[in-house]
Amino acid sequence: MLRSHTCGDLRKEHGNQEVALCGWVAARRDHGKLIFIDIRDRYGITQVVFVPSVSKEAHQTAEKLGPEFVIRVKGKVAVRPPKMVNPDVPTGEVEVCAEHLEIINEAKVPVFEIDDTVDVSEEHRLTYRYLDIRRSKVLEALKTRHKICSIIHKYMNEQQFLEVETPVLTKSTPEGARDFLVPARLNPGKFFALPQSPQLFKQILMVSGLDRYYQIVKCFRDEDLRSDRQPEFTQLDMEMSFVSEEDIFTITEGLFKEIFKQVKGIDIPTPFPRMTHQQAMAEYKSDKPDLRKEGEEFAFTWIIDFPMFKYNDEEKRWESEHHPFTSLKEEDLKYIDSKEFGKIRARSYDLVLNGSELGSGSVRIHKKDIQKQIFDIIGFDEKEATERFGFLLRAFEYGAPIHAGAAYGVDRLVAILCGLDSIRDTIAFPKTQKGSCLLTDAPSSVDDKQLQDLGLMKLSLEEDQ
Ligand code: AMO
Repeated sequence: MLRSHTCGDLRKEHGNQEVALCGWVAARRDHGKLIFIDIRDRYGITQVVFVPSVSKEAHQTAEKLGPEFVIRVKGKVAVRPPKMVNPDVPTGEVEVCAEHLEIINEAKVPVFEIDDTVDVSEEHRLTYRYLDIRRSKVLEALKTRHKICSIIHKYMNEQQFLEVETPVLTKSTPEGARDFLVPARLNPGKFFALPQSPQLFKQILMVSGLDRYYQIVKCFRDEDLRSDRQPEFTQLDMEMSFVSEEDIFTITEGLFKEIFKQVKGIDIPTPFPRMTHQQAMAEYKSDKPDLRKEGEEFAFTWIIDFPMFKYNDEEKRWESEHHPFTSLKEEDLKYIDSKEFGKIRARSYDLVLNGSELGSGSVRIHKKDIQKQIFDIIGFDEKEATERFGFLLRAFEYGAPIHAGAAYGVDRLVAILCGLDSIRDTIAFPKTQKGSCLLTDAPSSVDDKQLQDLGLMKLSLEEDQ
């Protein structure tokens, strides 16, 4: 074993033990003959002292250490006298008296200090993300993210949900943003779309009889970016059969209760309050009101009874407020016949936390005829509906159960729980506001051969002629 402990492990009880630590040089202080270094890894920081009388060789090597060098130290744990204890770090009662030092790798002087208190531009932080992740802001968010995902897996498993992976190369889904397209080399001129969500696949899994599906899944949307929007982001996606809104609310509230208890030690009150869309707009002029009172810190609310359609003035047509697979309230069915589409309320719901939309979902249409009527209202004629969603309509002919579901933004949840302003800091390798990755410099140009293989070059040459 290269190391016996991590840099966060050692305590008084380890006094006099021979140990080996590996990590990065976080700081070096020369005090005459003594050299002190702090060695850091993901788990913490430990002080190491080099004394020539203990090992001349190790002391000489320590003189060469620069910031962020990767090293391996062997030595004995010494318990510090009470006056020398550092109360600011968990390992502060001890230090390692080095007997051997190995430089595993030298490092260039980092472009910014690995210090949480130092302000660094986001451009630098994203270009040198590996250095940024050595600081605690992103590291702590990644740890919290991992914890939240573990809680989700455990909870959903206990509730009999099956996690099923759905395709990334797929067909366009109508979540309202632009699609990212992938040219299909084997089918020249045709394209896959990256999924904006697994919406149609999860509904089809209900037709398959899976009963309870979930997935922690990447979704892709080509839309204008903000602090709470990334072009690729992660959803906790779920769907259930033979249920109503109430079952989705109960499962969701139970899950969030568990997450908040384990991550924050807070008992959030359930059931969450509910407010109709009309009420929210009248009282707060927002469909995601911030209901925090002075001092719960976390205020959840369900917004229910959204309008089914909104009118697109530019295109002079109705479009879905949520998505076209959403059921409508039975008592509003009459407005289809009278063509008063603006009056129809959907069986959809949003979960709002502290003024941020954390998730949304709906009871779905499970009858082919109603689904066709909805497509008709939003302007998909039979041919277009069949081309785009024929596979769903066909599945509905083979026994579709009543079903409902929801999806929650994992990045947004982590950001709120960690008190971060932007979801970029909850993602190891995020895109900038302009949709690029500064670490890898993606998106980038590709060579002509690649374009030719995809049939794209040919198309543009033909256009030129
Ligand atoms: P919706 O489009 O509302 O619903 O998405 C669900 C949740 O995903 C998060 N989210 C995002 N997070 C970061 N960046 C983005 N660009 C982004 N877009 C959405 C939000 C949002 O509330 N298929 C439906 C759900 C369903 O009906 O079951 C859907 O995707 O937190």
